[in-house]
Amino acid sequence: MPVRLGLIGYPVEHSLSPSFQQPALNAMGIDAIYELWPTPPDEVPGRVASLRAPDVLGANVTVPHKEAARGLVDEVSVQGQRAGAINTVINDAGRLRGENTDIDGLAASLRESGFRDPGFTVVVLGAGGAARGALLALEALGAARLTIANRSQEKAAALLEVAPEIAGTASGLAGAACEAALREADLLINTTSLGWKAGETPIDLTLLDLLPAGSVVFDLTYRETSLLQAAGQRGLKSVDGLAMLVYQGARSLELWTGREAPVDLMMAAAMEARSQRS
Ligand code: ATR
Repeated sequence: MPVRLGLIGYPVEHSLSPSFQQPALNAMGIDAIYELWPTPPDEVPGRVASLRAPDVLGANVTVPHKEAARGLVDEVSVQGQRAGAINTVINDAGRLRGENTDIDGLAASLRESGFRDPGFTVVVLGAGGAARGALLALEALGAARLTIANRSQEKAAALLEVAPEIAGTASGLAGAACEAALREADLLINTTSLGWKAGETPIDLTLLDLLPAGSVVFDLTYRETSLLQAAGQRGLKSVDGLAMLVYQGARSLELWTGREAPVDLMMAAAMEARSQRS
């Protein structure tokens, strides 16, 4: 009998996770199936409890259940506690551990995009759950200065407390403070979901003209958003969330199995799956 893994979210049909987790499990010689587990909010407690079954290795958790799942497991890692959310559950003989591998995934992708040395300056767009995780990755990489630009400036100011070691400012999504921050930025990260729909952008695209040459524009979504297209047109480096997705998944796989994940194979499978969708 194969063991089971799956993705808990609502909806989950669009997810690329099975397309790279299943080939990785196969390549590792693990008799397991990675399933999609669409779960309406009222069924999340039951779904998480079902992960204690002996034939379940664990699960990934995605939107909108990452915060709720954190309160339903037996033990939460420090990063999961700080993020206020988990994306991975590990079944340790009936005891459930929660981890947040989104933070590692973003840090790995940013390192790959050139942010290997501490001391860089960043503008984060958005101040929700995804931004909170991004701040923890930026802290791990040693970002020196940070502006959180958000529609609600109060929410941006409150979020700065998550990473007190980074010198931080809050701003709106336009205006003098936002413009000044963009002029100094080595990195701009969009953590809002604005951009999933064609033509939608988190900031006025002409603001990208303020970014210094050589800066990087990163979008957590794994689509070619208008923001990334506009960055590319301006000769800036643009990075989407696909590598982050694969790195978080690889880390989850290592936690479930205790073995090294075949990251290159997973990356190739994810790229192939995405290209078949578009
Ligand atoms: P997630 O967990 O994906 O980060 P979230 O916690 O709901 O989701 O946060 C969504 C973020 O996108 C917030 O920063 C939100 O701005 P507010 O804090 O002002 O609400 C931002 N956002 C969502 N819709 C937006 C819109 N139409 N214009 C500007 N910002 C928007």
